[in-house]
Amino acid sequence: MFQFNFLDNTVTSNEHSNTSESDSCNPHNAKEVFPNPSVFTQTVDNVRTLSYSDNLDIRLISDVTFPSNSLLSTAESNHSDLLAGVYEGGLKIWECTHDLAKFIVNENLNLTNKNVLDLGCGGGIIGIIACVRGAEVCFQDYNEDVISYFTIPNVHLNSQTKKSRFYSGDWESFSSIVCTQYDIIFTCETVYNPDNYSKLCKVFAQCLKPNGFIYLAAKGHYFGCGGGLNDFVEFLKHKTEFRSETCWKYSNGLERAILKIYF
Ligand SMILES: C[S@@+](CC[C@H](N)C(=O)[O-])C[C@H]1O[C@@H](n2cnc3c(N)ncnc32)[C@H](O)[C@@H]1O
Repeated sequence: MFQFNFLDNTVTSNEHSNTSESDSCNPHNAKEVFPNPSVFTQTVDNVRTLSYSDNLDIRLISDVTFPSNSLLSTAESNHSDLLAGVYEGGLKIWECTHDLAKFIVNENLNLTNKNVLDLGCGGGIIGIIACVRGAEVCFQDYNEDVISYFTIPNVHLNSQTKKSRFYSGDWESFSSIVCTQYDIIFTCETVYNPDNYSKLCKVFAQCLKPNGFIYLAAKGHYFGCGGGLNDFVEFLKHKTEFRSETCWKYSNGLERAILKIYF
C-alpha cells in the first residue's frame, strides 16, 4: 500500500522559526531562480536515463547533493518523503509522473510552441518532455534547493535550459508574481493535502489561458494525508469554475488517474 514516509515537522518548524517570522525572509515566498553554471559540473558522472519511447530518453542526475545548511538536509537525513511546509517531496520521482510522461507520448500531445507550466515539478521530467516536444516551459517547485540542485541540472542535462524558466515557492505567492498565462499546465502528485486545494486552484485560475488545459496525474487517495484525486474532483465540482474528465485510469490496486481540467 502506498503511504507517504512522513516526518513529524513540529521540531523542524521550530528550528526554522526565525525564517518564518517575517514574510520578507520567508524562504517559501515565490521567486524566480536563475541557473548557476557551477552546479552543472557536478552532474557529469552522476546520470541515469529514463526511457519513455524508442526516441525519448530523459537524463536525470541520480544522486542530488546540496549544501549542508539547506532546509532539505533534515528531510534527507531522515529519509523523509515529505515534511509539510518545509519539504514537499520534490527530490523523488513519484509514480504518477511516469503515468503522465507515457500519456503525453502515447497520445502524441501537440506541445509545439505552447507555453507550458510544470507545476510542482520536482525533478522536472514532464517539463523536460514538453521542451523536447517544442514547448517553452516554466518549472515551479516549492523548494528553491530542489529547483537549483535537481530540476535545473536535469534540464541542463537534456540541453533544454534556453527554453526554460524556473520558480520556487508556495503556490499562494506564486500566483501573485507570475503574469504569464499558459496553454497547458501539467501537475503530478500535488493533491495529497486538502489544505492546499484552494491555492492550487488559484494558480490554475490565474495562470491558465481561457482555452487552455490542465493535465493532473495523481493517486485516488493518499493514506496518512487525507487528500487524493477523488477528494480533489469533489472540490473542483463544488468550489471552483473548473470542469474535469478522466482521460486515463489504472485501477488494479491503488487507483491512479489523469484528469483533464478546463474552464
Ligand atoms: C509529491 S511531490 C511530486 C513531485 C513531482 N511532480 C513528481 O511527481 O515526481 C509534490 C510537489 O508539489 C509541490 N508542492 C506541494 N505543495 C506545494 C505548495 N504549497 N506550494 C508550492 N508547491 C507545492 C512541490 O513542489 C512538490 O515537488
